[in-house]
Amino acid sequence: MSLEQFQSELEALRTEAADAFSAAADAAALETARVEFLGAKSGRLKAVQKQLGKVPKEDKPAAGKSFNEAKGQIEAAFAAAEERLSSSGTDQDDAAPFDLTLPGPRLPLGHVHPLTQTIEELKDLMGRLGFTVATGPEIEDEWHNFEALNIPASHPARDPLENFYLSTAGVVAGKEGAPLLLRSQTSTVQIRVMESMPPPVRIISLGRVYRPDTADATHYPMFQQIEGLLVDRHATMADLKSVLRLFASSFLGGDVHIRFRPSFFPFTEPSVEVDMSWHDDQGNLRWIEMGGAGMVDPNVLGAVGYDPEEVTGFAFGLGVERVCARRHNVTDIREFYRNDVRFLHQF
Ligand code: DAH
Repeated sequence: MSLEQFQSELEALRTEAADAFSAAADAAALETARVEFLGAKSGRLKAVQKQLGKVPKEDKPAAGKSFNEAKGQIEAAFAAAEERLSSSGTDQDDAAPFDLTLPGPRLPLGHVHPLTQTIEELKDLMGRLGFTVATGPEIEDEWHNFEALNIPASHPARDPLENFYLSTAGVVAGKEGAPLLLRSQTSTVQIRVMESMPPPVRIISLGRVYRPDTADATHYPMFQQIEGLLVDRHATMADLKSVLRLFASSFLGGDVHIRFRPSFFPFTEPSVEVDMSWHDDQGNLRWIEMGGAGMVDPNVLGAVGYDPEEVTGFAFGLGVERVCARRHNVTDIREFYRNDVRFLHQF
């Protein structure tokens, strides 16, 4: 092979390689071109280098010099292409066209807590029975939490160890030095409503109550109650049962039954414990206690200035966590307060 032939082969390769490198549209194409021309084992430059042996001896120095020049130029062309691709990565012309009509990525949205869902549904359901929603403060005085509810000072329910009294040095002064506590029941709202309006009354109240109970599957030191109160001329225990039966079957399902067990609450006479039925995995009928109820005690009606000879009333107080847990087959009410999204996302 003559020197001229060798040089023209080199020149052809140099142009071809430079064209291939500058035509590469992305890193993968450039790499393919690199292997083709500059590959260490079977690259085309390597193949030309092998021809060097066939050039006449006296032309070898010139051929070697040409080879080194061409090699340098090919390598420079490759480096330039590499540089072009890395700096043009975000170049609009090279990037895949952006489709503005595609829907954006969906942002993870939170959703309503199961207890809040329950509260909303219960308001709705009781609203259809004519009960309007009333609210009261979570920090209460002893009159509304106990006294007016026929719970005298000597009653064990008033034990400081059974309640969250707000206290720094023994007793915190409320208005006129009266002790305050976190309400232990929503029955307080019964008193506040009756104090504020004449009968008839038909309200529910939903909210938090506080008791120093040890947390377990059915207890929590803060929980929610739904309180109901109806006062009218001829309210009876049968009305109470009808309302609670409707409540149970509407919220828990048509096949749910309720039963009353005789009990005692200072603010009702007679008083009952309210159980609702459910079927366990084996299909057995089971009962769960949802709360208390009864006919409003005449002393309570008297305390708010109603005439017990004129009106009667019924009241009930149920645990929202228990109702919600029964509805969704949750076996431990503490789950509602753990804020584990894996749990919460199921509702
Ligand atoms: N306040 C009671 C409690 O916390 C529940 C209750 C019982 C409420 C009877 C009532 C009622 O309105 O009539 O356990």
